[in-house]
Amino acid sequence: MMKIIRTKDYAELSEKVAELIAKEIRENEKPVIGLATGSTPVGAYQKLIEWYNEGKLDFSNVTTVNLDEYKGLPKDNDQSYWYFMHDNLFNHVNIRPENINLPDGTNEDADAECARYDAVVEGTGGVHIQLLGMGHNGHIAFNEPSDTFSRGTNCVALQQSTIDANKRFFASEADVPRFAYTMGIGTIMAAKKIVIAVNGRAKAETVKAAFTGPVTPRVPASILQFHPEVYVVLDEEAASLL
Ligand code: F6R
Repeated sequence: MMKIIRTKDYAELSEKVAELIAKEIRENEKPVIGLATGSTPVGAYQKLIEWYNEGKLDFSNVTTVNLDEYKGLPKDNDQSYWYFMHDNLFNHVNIRPENINLPDGTNEDADAECARYDAVVEGTGGVHIQLLGMGHNGHIAFNEPSDTFSRGTNCVALQQSTIDANKRFFASEADVPRFAYTMGIGTIMAAKKIVIAVNGRAKAETVKAAFTGPVTPRVPASILQFHPEVYVVLDEEAASLL
């Protein structure tokens, strides 16, 4: 089942995404929530923090698993996804530090780290809902367009376009990480529910390709058409070509 939810703007999109996540937190005794970084989910995280502050949401039993992390960046680097998640969500709610999971960017041994993270995700007993954003090229997590769909957590070389897009956050291009650890498409598809949020006109073509076109690893998000319960939350601009 793929449900397309059209919202009028980013604020409404953020509230809808936060509602889907809050529902899982309330309905499960030990909720396991998959999270994403990037600009898209920030508004939803702000809503979750707001509801926590109003006493409407409790994170004390919540476990999180994040999609990805740069290889080579320590946690305290302000460009690491660990840092981003703490800054945008974890530092503001009552989640237990030991229940927070991300790939470890400082583990130099890629095979060991990928195996460790697969075991972590499996060890949660299953993700109740996984939040995703989508890249302009249809990527989900760091799974870029390719000839195949990846299975488990893997170590990917960043595309030059991604390095160029990210260099503004670093002192120089040489400081931009060249590799990242990412959940695989198979890992993502194993979540019981998936919510993918996309906003803005710039992604409208890719939204149309991903959710109405053929399922192909050339548009990684298209695989979600085969998932049993996925919510595609769009603002008006991202939905404009549907
Ligand atoms: C984030 C991630 C990426 C982003 C995607 C969209 O953890 O894995 O796939 O979801 O690049 O990024 P934004 O939201 O910044 O447009």
